[in-house]
Amino acid sequence: MVREVYIVGNWKMYKTAREATDYIEKLVPKVEGFKLNIYLAVPFTSIAQATSFAKQTQIVIGAQNMNDARDGAFTGEIAGLMLKEAGASFVLLGHSERRRLFHETNEIVHKKVVRALQDDIQPILCVGETLLERDEGKAEEVLKEQIMHALEGISKEDASRLILAYEPVWAIGTGKTATPKMAEEAHSFCRDVLIELFGKKVGQSISILYGGSVNADTALQIMAQKNIDGVLVGGASLDPDTFAAIAAHCIHK
Ligand code: PGA
Repeated sequence: MVREVYIVGNWKMYKTAREATDYIEKLVPKVEGFKLNIYLAVPFTSIAQATSFAKQTQIVIGAQNMNDARDGAFTGEIAGLMLKEAGASFVLLGHSERRRLFHETNEIVHKKVVRALQDDIQPILCVGETLLERDEGKAEEVLKEQIMHALEGISKEDASRLILAYEPVWAIGTGKTATPKMAEEAHSFCRDVLIELFGKKVGQSISILYGGSVNADTALQIMAQKNIDGVLVGGASLDPDTFAAIAAHCIHK
């Protein structure tokens, strides 16, 4: 089964709109001709400008979060339709920083996934266990619950539009990457959950990305794993040279 390969940069709360356009200008020539989906999840305020700068290039711009309502009296929130109009093609949902710092539950993440699909924005659903959960032998149980709950009631057709990202919480921003074997085991488990939910054909077609302290030194080995279809890169995506170097490791898949 040939799956789409992705590198996704998650800028978090870094870079103004001007910095975003400088970055894209630097990145474009470095990744020219790469046969790979190159996504950048930028801050809300950079989406429109980044989208217009990325036009005619292979770089796809998206968001890092959205509200689950179509619209409404939710001060400070942002709706999928607003992101879509600004140019966002995809959105990260359920990132562990959202779950941990902003109290997003599996139910909230589920509602956001449903809304993103309705608003025609490709969801990248992030799941992952904490160190405590892993140490207690509960990693698989947690992953299964996160995936099952977030994707409850989603049709096979909609499921084929989404991307899953496995990001062990203990590896995000810590410099600790899961070993390729550990990551592959988790990905293979997530793959089985997707097959259980959507059947073999769709379950095997969904790309699963690994995230958590990925850098230019670790990407090649990570990408060599059978069930790893790309990477979600935080800190190391902030520099276009490093991001392009990681992308170069992803094109051989
Ligand atoms: P990191 O972040 O690469 O800095 O660990 C990954 C993420 O948060 O998606």
